[in-house]
Amino acid sequence: MTSPAGVTGEAGRFSLTRGGFIKVAAVSAIGMGAGGAGSLGLSGARAAPPKPVGTRYPLRIPPTTSPQSLSLVEAPAVVDIGGGQSNAWAYNACFPGPSIIAKRGDSASIHLVNGLQEQTITHWHGMIVDERNDGGPFYTIAPGGTYDYAFTIDQRACLNFYHPHPHMLTGEQVNLGLAGAFIVRDDIEDALGLPSGAREVPLLVRDATLDTAGNLSYKPRTGGFDGQIPLVNGTRSPYYAVDGGLYRFRVVNGANARIFGLTLSNGAPFTLIGNDGGFLESQSNLTRIDISPGERLDLLLSFAGLNTGQSVMLRDARSGWDLLEFRVIAPGTGTVPALALPSISKLSNPATTRTFSFDGMSRINGKLFDHNRIDFRVPFGTTELWRFTTNGNAPHPVHVHGASFQVQSRTGGRGTVFAWERGWKDTVLLEDKESVDVLIRFDGFRGRYVIHCHKLEHEDMGMMSAFEVY
Ligand code: C2O
Ligand code: CU
Ligand code: CU
Repeated sequence: MTSPAGVTGEAGRFSLTRGGFIKVAAVSAIGMGAGGAGSLGLSGARAAPPKPVGTRYPLRIPPTTSPQSLSLVEAPAVVDIGGGQSNAWAYNACFPGPSIIAKRGDSASIHLVNGLQEQTITHWHGMIVDERNDGGPFYTIAPGGTYDYAFTIDQRACLNFYHPHPHMLTGEQVNLGLAGAFIVRDDIEDALGLPSGAREVPLLVRDATLDTAGNLSYKPRTGGFDGQIPLVNGTRSPYYAVDGGLYRFRVVNGANARIFGLTLSNGAPFTLIGNDGGFLESQSNLTRIDISPGERLDLLLSFAGLNTGQSVMLRDARSGWDLLEFRVIAPGTGTVPALALPSISKLSNPATTRTFSFDGMSRINGKLFDHNRIDFRVPFGTTELWRFTTNGNAPHPVHVHGASFQVQSRTGGRGTVFAWERGWKDTVLLEDKESVDVLIRFDGFRGRYVIHCHKLEHEDMGMMSAFEVY
């Protein structure tokens, strides 16, 4: 069946159809090469010369906006992902959605409009807000419905990630294009004098599958969506023109299920300065950083050692994919400064230990999600130790709403806490045979929140649990 929105769905699979418009360009050779199924879609009316292999497209930089009097419409849209137009679902017709930029102390007033043919709600992943403004699965709105958020932004400078959160539909909606960056700034960040403007670049990294007409297509496997091509900021095979100066990259893993192992093709290190909850206490140089769905990174990179005309590729060491080409178009002398990063007060002396077993692909502690059931109650302002374990089917990127946590230890599996897992986190990767201990304290708001696996197919199948801070 075809809905008015031009979306076909069958047996839990979704594919955006071409809608009423004529595609102006065929999918690129890269997109088609990965398309499988033998047919390159070159027969009939859509026959257009394939793009030469290796065509790259300019990285899209989403427009920026303040969260004050912001209207966000989730609706089907036609977007250019590089080399042609694709049907997607998008915030305000932007893929990714506009980057929301706020300063600590600002108030947000956001009017959400549901222009989809199914329920939705938007969650501000990483924002410490009350239950009503969290945009979790308790507050979905119907097609044509609206929701008004009003909250004060009161947390450290950081990069957060907004996306839909309706139970059982999150994977589809995020995969079809609904996601964006929410950046919080503060005086501490301002004093560091970090690269800004075109030198501060949000990078929303994910994978995608295109149908033969080049439209975004959500065909999840039970174990998790496994896309055929990478997209950075909704651009396939992107490049970004740089000079030999210093840049700051704000990375979000916006994939449904894929973990990226970020490396640079010249073997140079990234300088890691922050993650989910803002700045780390100290910077570190790392040649590879693994990032799972929902996690964020704050990276500095200088291209000073390169000549004009050279390029460096941001690569995923896990898939071998080239994610983003940095093209040097002018010389420069950027150097990575030694930063005086702010210290972090350590949580300690937990009053309680709770264990969360991520079982199979759909349960936490043996239970499927039920938004009418509160699984546990957490006293406000009390430090607790939460232990995340699994009996298989990992990876499970574990995410908590309503507070950030500090990772204490990982036993089994990879057996260590990585540099990018220090500081304040709200999402931590749990691999098979691992047990991860975190300290957490809810000192923002009382109310209902959720903990869930951020592999969105696991979450949608029920690997989520509701709790109440009292
Ligand atoms: Cu990014 Cu509850 O999610
Ligand atoms: Cu969240
Ligand atoms: Cu999982």
